[in-house]
Amino acid sequence: MLLDTYGRKATDLRVSLTDRCNLRCTYCMPEEGLQWLAKPDLLSDDEIVRLIGLAVTRLGIEEVRFTGGEPLLRPGLVGIIERCAELDPRPRMSLTTNGIGLERTAEALHAAGLDRVNVSLDTLRPEVFQRMTRRKRHADVLRGLAAGRAAGLTPVKVNAVLMPELNDDEAPDLLAWAVEHDYELRFIEQMPLDAQHGWHREGMVTAGDILASLRTRFTLTPEGEEVRGSAPAERWIVDGGPHRVGVIASVTRPFCSACDRTRLTADGQVRTCLFAREETDLRAALRSGAEDEEIAELWKLAMWGKKAGAGIDDPSFIQPDRPMSAIGG
Ligand code: 5AD
Ligand code: SF4
Repeated sequence: MLLDTYGRKATDLRVSLTDRCNLRCTYCMPEEGLQWLAKPDLLSDDEIVRLIGLAVTRLGIEEVRFTGGEPLLRPGLVGIIERCAELDPRPRMSLTTNGIGLERTAEALHAAGLDRVNVSLDTLRPEVFQRMTRRKRHADVLRGLAAGRAAGLTPVKVNAVLMPELNDDEAPDLLAWAVEHDYELRFIEQMPLDAQHGWHREGMVTAGDILASLRTRFTLTPEGEEVRGSAPAERWIVDGGPHRVGVIASVTRPFCSACDRTRLTADGQVRTCLFAREETDLRAALRSGAEDEEIAELWKLAMWGKKAGAGIDDPSFIQPDRPMSAIGG
């Protein structure tokens, strides 16, 4: 098991499959992109499957979430999912994607054993999408979402980040649209994880702002702590149900005390948290011929050192060296 000194148990593994992306969201990357990891530095498909396998069979991982960058850019994605679906016990598997290309791949992903998708979409307005992502791909994302739902990758969750003066007026429209299309919408507070270090506490749209904006058009009833478990999203029932809306208040109301996550970067580093400042190199162990048991021990040791919380709201907070696209969202 992956335990830490605060009594938490990590059962949810996030695996970044690539740090590359075909969008350039302003809260994530600069316009020119980043210095991508070199191919030899990336874990191979076999290495990824081996690490997920030992995490599931030896370390108590129950849920695997594939992220990026943009994980649909990883050529071996379907094969990786197929091989993970054969593990015993079989982990639940989901994919966090920007939705571009999902239209083409949703069926194959579902057939391979993927359970669900989370699609990032911040706006319903194509021109705002272009300003926020610096790409004209809004229609592709909408088609990807529809394909995900049609393929049974449900519940399809939509992640939205609100940015001041760009889309901070869109919360109620996004919710009305999500309810209509049967997507489960979650707002994520903007976190200081962009490569350009452009995040400012004063500028961010908070969970409080989002809820106030939603309540101008909807009646929201808290779902309650019992239902929440270790989920980072707090959820509200929309207009009496059955739809729900979530808010992930990573900055203003962090939920670190119930965190059940461990992370693996595309270059094989274990991170205890998005905001961790240390990494544990499993790739070096793999490539020097370590046995599964030794790697499992390294992973356990890494997690034992997990900090109590990220402390973004603390004045002494220091942003991690790597941006979110390199850590895995
Ligand atoms: N703050 C909050 N959310 C972010 N995401 C990417 N960068 C940030 C950030 N700095 C979101 C993406 C995606 C999810 C993986 O994280 O929009 O939905
Ligand atoms: Fe790509 Fe996601 Fe970063 Fe946007 S937030 S640039 S979709 S990795």
